[in-house]
Amino acid sequence: MRKGFLAVGAVGLLALGSMTACGNDSGDDQAGSDQTPKIGVILPDSKSSVRWESADRKFLEEAFKAAGVEYDIQNAQGDKSAFQTIADQMITSGVTALMIVNLDSGTGKAVLDKAKSQGVATIDYDRLTLGGSAEYYVSFDNEAVGKLQGEGLVKCLTDQKVENPVVAYLNGSPTDNNATLFKNGYDSILKPKFDANEYTKGPDQSVPDWDNAQAATIFEQMLTQTGGKIDGVLSANDGLGNAAISVLKKNNLNGKVPVTGQDADPQGLQNILAGDQCMTVYKAVKQEADAAAELAIALAKGERKETGQTVKDPEGGRDVPAVLLTPTAIFKENVKDVIADGYVTKEQVCTADFATLCTEAGIS
Ligand code: BGC
Repeated sequence: MRKGFLAVGAVGLLALGSMTACGNDSGDDQAGSDQTPKIGVILPDSKSSVRWESADRKFLEEAFKAAGVEYDIQNAQGDKSAFQTIADQMITSGVTALMIVNLDSGTGKAVLDKAKSQGVATIDYDRLTLGGSAEYYVSFDNEAVGKLQGEGLVKCLTDQKVENPVVAYLNGSPTDNNATLFKNGYDSILKPKFDANEYTKGPDQSVPDWDNAQAATIFEQMLTQTGGKIDGVLSANDGLGNAAISVLKKNNLNGKVPVTGQDADPQGLQNILAGDQCMTVYKAVKQEADAAAELAIALAKGERKETGQTVKDPEGGRDVPAVLLTPTAIFKENVKDVIADGYVTKEQVCTADFATLCTEAGIS
């Protein structure tokens, strides 16, 4: 698996390596060489996933520092009006490229359009802004993420040997295009099973703003509503998964009902080691940050690069030049690979109660 990560890394690099710089010195580009390159980044929040502060900020910072480029990374903390204020301040402060993780497409679009009108180049980072105007989109193949979740749940349900299992969906935020893509992915695996009456479709709900506390309430209601008959939970990320697990624990059902996740965060990995979570999806955020930083640095200098790929914005109808990276499924057996890749540390995962489980899982 370690090899797998390296292979994925190499693909990412190859994709970027094949980009050809085509400098834009037509003079109509306000982000041209007459301005000092400066990159602004707006992260969405720090609660829906720990990744934004613990991985994205860190890896972006490292990439900008290595390139010796000026930057300003801020977090909107889930507040859409703060998001817009930060963007305005960044534009006023003279950023020449702006990278955003939108909180919804409406405010994202307003920010991108304003930046564009001021000659600031833009990138959609991780989430595509529907109907937006970003010059690039850098993310993972989010449908592939959903497929891994669907396949992972099938694997765990098969191990569980439950007849015609009832599967509940705890989807991501309805305002996040990624949540739609994740669902398309897991539906493509699970719907055929529902249609064939092999599995039964249980409750299916989205969690506003990926709010973990709300997710627990929603899942509690699902469990009540079904009289406790939920055999598997397709949860869209580790935070939502942990919310479901906390409710399952109260009902002595943890470990009996497989739950999926995403982000390979320390808590998700601990839940996997404990047997309470079936799997997670690891996205090597360093690759994403590096790819986005490379594009942002070029844009900030007034250059354009080829990504060799586009994604269709279903709302705006645009083909947006994109970099899409490959995710990896993580089960108990390969939790160690996430640590070996340097994404989380042994110290974060193998705390007191988990030390023995870590040793058993070959984490040394
Ligand atoms: C990201 C996930 C993250 C979720 C909540 C999604 O857009 O792709 O990695 O868990 O947002 O922040």
